[in-house]
Amino acid sequence: MFSKEIYNQRRSVLGKALYSGLLLFLGNDEMGMNCKDNTYHFRQDSSFLYYFGLDQPNLAAVMDLDEGKSIIFGDEMSVEYIVWMGAQPTIAEQAAQVGVLETQPYDELEAYLQKAASRPIHYLPPYRANHTIKLHQLLGKPLNVVSNHASVELIQAIVQQRSVKSAEEIAEMEKAVNVTGQMHIQAMRQAKAGMKEAELAGLVEGMAVASGGNLAYPVIMTVNGQTLHNHYHGNTLQSGQMVLGDYGAETGLHYAGDITRTFPVDKTFTSRQKDIYNLVLKAEVDCIEALKPDMLYRDMHLKSAKIILDGLKTLGLTKGNMDDALEAGAYGLFFPHGLGHQIGLDVHDMENLGENYVGYRNGIERSKLFGLKSLRLAKELKTGYVLTVEPGIYFIPELIDQWKVEGRFKEFINYDAVEKYKDFSGIRIEDNILITETGYRILGEPIPKTVKEVEALRAEV
Ligand code: GLY
Ligand code: MN
Repeated sequence: MFSKEIYNQRRSVLGKALYSGLLLFLGNDEMGMNCKDNTYHFRQDSSFLYYFGLDQPNLAAVMDLDEGKSIIFGDEMSVEYIVWMGAQPTIAEQAAQVGVLETQPYDELEAYLQKAASRPIHYLPPYRANHTIKLHQLLGKPLNVVSNHASVELIQAIVQQRSVKSAEEIAEMEKAVNVTGQMHIQAMRQAKAGMKEAELAGLVEGMAVASGGNLAYPVIMTVNGQTLHNHYHGNTLQSGQMVLGDYGAETGLHYAGDITRTFPVDKTFTSRQKDIYNLVLKAEVDCIEALKPDMLYRDMHLKSAKIILDGLKTLGLTKGNMDDALEAGAYGLFFPHGLGHQIGLDVHDMENLGENYVGYRNGIERSKLFGLKSLRLAKELKTGYVLTVEPGIYFIPELIDQWKVEGRFKEFINYDAVEKYKDFSGIRIEDNILITETGYRILGEPIPKTVKEVEALRAEV
């Protein structure tokens, strides 16, 4: 964990933003995978980690703003529990490490909240069913509405605070990206025809765990990169194919990396692959180089879409006026997702608090256009934000068939040419970027990305 001064300072900033009432934070609990004692990998809630740092199950915390104190609720381990799980510092000792001076048994939480019932109790939207039930029991609100009563004030204050990364957070994120970069380099070095996707997925997952952390999200390692979140790893790599790898390490303190690279199974890209690859690379690099505070990230999304439309026109896949094609959303056929998202303690940072609170604001509303509607971050960027830039070009046979039959955007899309790419799969390239006062900084050591750099690694196989 960080020093207790950091947690004290974070809570102090949050307390000043809310003024009064109680702020309730539920830590995550162990969840049975196929029986109570065989649990899923434990992951602490990120807001709990951010303000209270303690990385173990069955804790809750209250910031009582009227009383000017924080309390951690948790139970000491019984000897019977220690027999199975080993000894731990007491709850009071752990709380002291994060600057919290008062602790109470978990069961006292309900009474504490009941005593405060006349005051506002702010809590975050639950994303696990057991927290919905817990909030229902603790606050006496009906199960079906407890989520709707989450505190918008608290959400907005947390989003504002957690979006701007401090120096120690940036150092952690840089660590996450560096481990992730090594994972990508090893995958590019070791992949060869005849290997299963699962072997590469296992290789990179092992590296994340060996680094002292874990994966930040399930590995995408696929020869079918046209499927955006493809977690199937049963295919065998074949000559002529490409591998799209989208994965990231999470550090021991739970800061995430999220990097994508696409490389050929052979030592070199085919010329058709190279054309599309260089187009995605141009979209990525040009957008990164344009980043600076105060710009709307939606404008970067549109910039990348325009680069893709223009490039595809050169290749004969699009036609007509590309400004009009951009406005109409014709690029959604090739680029159906958003350019990027904030990243931090969560790979899609804070999205459990509500995606629109993180990426949008009044006046910057989410589009309904296919493609643009999937943009997770549209609002102005600020110094200290960390975000991904991850354009891609995909040839999704089912989508091509549907749009072609419907004649959708036939004035902009050369369907006869696109038909010939139905076996192409997809390419995405992604880096993690810090917004600085004057522009941007790509986090971590450079990870091979140009055709020349990727082919140099593939030549080592
Ligand atoms: N890395 C997966 C995503 O950004 O959705
Ligand atoms: Mn991403």
